[in-house]
Amino acid sequence: MSLILWTVLGYLLGSIPFGIVIARALGLGDLRKIGSGNIGATNVLRTGNKPAALATLLLDSGKGAIAVLLARHFAGETAAIMAGGAAFLGHCFPVWLGFKGGKGVATFLGTLIALNWPLGLIACGIWLLTALVSRISSLSALMAAALSPVFAWALGRTDLILVCLFMAALIFLRHKANIARLMDGSEPRIGKKG
Ligand code: G3P
Repeated sequence: MSLILWTVLGYLLGSIPFGIVIARALGLGDLRKIGSGNIGATNVLRTGNKPAALATLLLDSGKGAIAVLLARHFAGETAAIMAGGAAFLGHCFPVWLGFKGGKGVATFLGTLIALNWPLGLIACGIWLLTALVSRISSLSALMAAALSPVFAWALGRTDLILVCLFMAALIFLRHKANIARLMDGSEPRIGKKG
């Protein structure tokens, strides 16, 4: 029973589209009509408002982390894994936005940090390193997502491999348009208007 409860609570928490809320509150417009149309921090950055992008990154990752920490505290590790995966799913398919959500990258990172901080930091490191070299947010996310199950295994957290595979698969699916742009060389660099 509590597993279902924490999965539902995680999903509802993950469904809060902080990018949309922040952009609207600051009068930056409807993110879905700006740049890539995505509701995440990378697209908030395209409005030119760096603090708003940072706040979106922190809140979108924080909701994944909070879902994990609350579920772990009250119901244990399996509930934590379910709640984190569900928060990620909520960001991608939010009930509040008619199930049309984001690409899940910040929530994936926050969820991983709370599930296992070394694994989360490794994923953040892969994102950062790829971003430093390529200046492309989507490529950085794809690299971090693809390698997360491998590092879960390498760290001995075999219980996290499935949730990592699930999030990585969904991140790849949600980046279909980005992958097409990466292939033809038209994917914009971080901070550039899409
Ligand atoms: O975090 C999302 C990022 O990987 C891609 O965002 O707006 O460039 O499609 P965007």
